Amino acid sequence: MFGNRKKSTVGLDIGANTVKLVKLDHTKTGYFLSGLGMREFPAEAIVSDEIRDRDAVIFNIQALIDQVDPKIKDVHVSISGHGVITDKFTIDRKAGAEAEQAIIFETEQRAPFDIDDVTIDYHISQNDEQQNTMDVLMVAARNEFLDGFIELVEECDLRPTLVDIDAFAALNAYEYNYDIDPERTTAIVNVGHDVTNICYLLDGALHSTRDVSSGVREIFNSIQKEFRLNLELSTKAIKGELGESIDQDMLKATIVSASDELISGIEQAFTYFKAQSKAPQIDWIVLSGGGALVPYLAEHIQAKLAVPIEMLNPLRSIEYDPQMYEYLQPEKIAPMLAVPIGLALRKVKKKS
Ligand SMILES: Nc1ncnc2c1ncn2[C@@H]1O[C@H](COP(=O)(O)OP(=O)(O)OP(=O)(O)O)[C@@H](O)[C@H]1O
Ligand SMILES: [Mg+2]
Repeated sequence: MFGNRKKSTVGLDIGANTVKLVKLDHTKTGYFLSGLGMREFPAEAIVSDEIRDRDAVIFNIQALIDQVDPKIKDVHVSISGHGVITDKFTIDRKAGAEAEQAIIFETEQRAPFDIDDVTIDYHISQNDEQQNTMDVLMVAARNEFLDGFIELVEECDLRPTLVDIDAFAALNAYEYNYDIDPERTTAIVNVGHDVTNICYLLDGALHSTRDVSSGVREIFNSIQKEFRLNLELSTKAIKGELGESIDQDMLKATIVSASDELISGIEQAFTYFKAQSKAPQIDWIVLSGGGALVPYLAEHIQAKLAVPIEMLNPLRSIEYDPQMYEYLQPEKIAPMLAVPIGLALRKVKKKS
């Protein structure tokens, strides 16, 4: 009787600028996009990871749910920024509960925080049988931050059944849609409004992740100032929707000069990764987030860092009916959907 009920999962990405929602139905062959929507928050409702106007945030999330599917209750969500700490270390190979104990012990020794103040998760990225070691990627979320975030989601009448971090969600979207080339050291770079999440893939596996506290906001503000535009028109300008009605050379110059901080942040992160991993170079960047859509930005990053860029299309292997989303045009904004799609694709781990 219940056998035909379709299973679906929802990814809700609460970004500093835009909240995005993706609903995926699980089909026999994969996934079908059965719901999609996004809404922009008022300008300073969220700054970095600080929620300044809680009511506006809740209002917009609820409005988005109503718009896409009022029946939605269970959502997969994600956090990023200062409330999240990641670390990578190598310890002796162990399994099961022993591994967990060893990871918590090692984290306690290394962490710049009290272990009781955080919630820890981890990922074993590499097992080296010859050396009898394993590489651990540890993720810790400050309890205060995590609890506040979960409360916010619950206040929207939703159940956060899974909490991930933005960087892993973008990676998940990439892994589902593409074959990883073990020969190429890859940086998945998700440029958001306030935070840029980076995941490094080395020898075909996740090496580490890092958040850079810089994004499109600087560029947005600078466009607003240089062109003396109101909020609405600046939003159109940054989306490339004003076309020839604004001076394109000036737009390009504004975007280029306002992206210095973002680019040097990414550059520093790359330098750190190369030193830590001993990888001679990053072979390519897979770009996602709203930043991937800002005119002239991708080509500028590519030129400044001298690393080729490819756009992440998280819908590449997901079925959808373009007529359902004529207004949103998913194919045009696809890179911005990496995090919510990665979240919706996430399987909930059953605790045994
Ligand atoms: N179609 C578009 N073309 C160009 N830029 C866009 C487009 N849509 C949004 N942007 C810009 O991208 C940024 C939003 O990107 P994104 O949604 O990835 O960030 P966010 O998730 O809200 O922020 P964060 O991840 O930092 O919390 C905004 O600055 C917005 O102006
Ligand atoms: Mg984001």
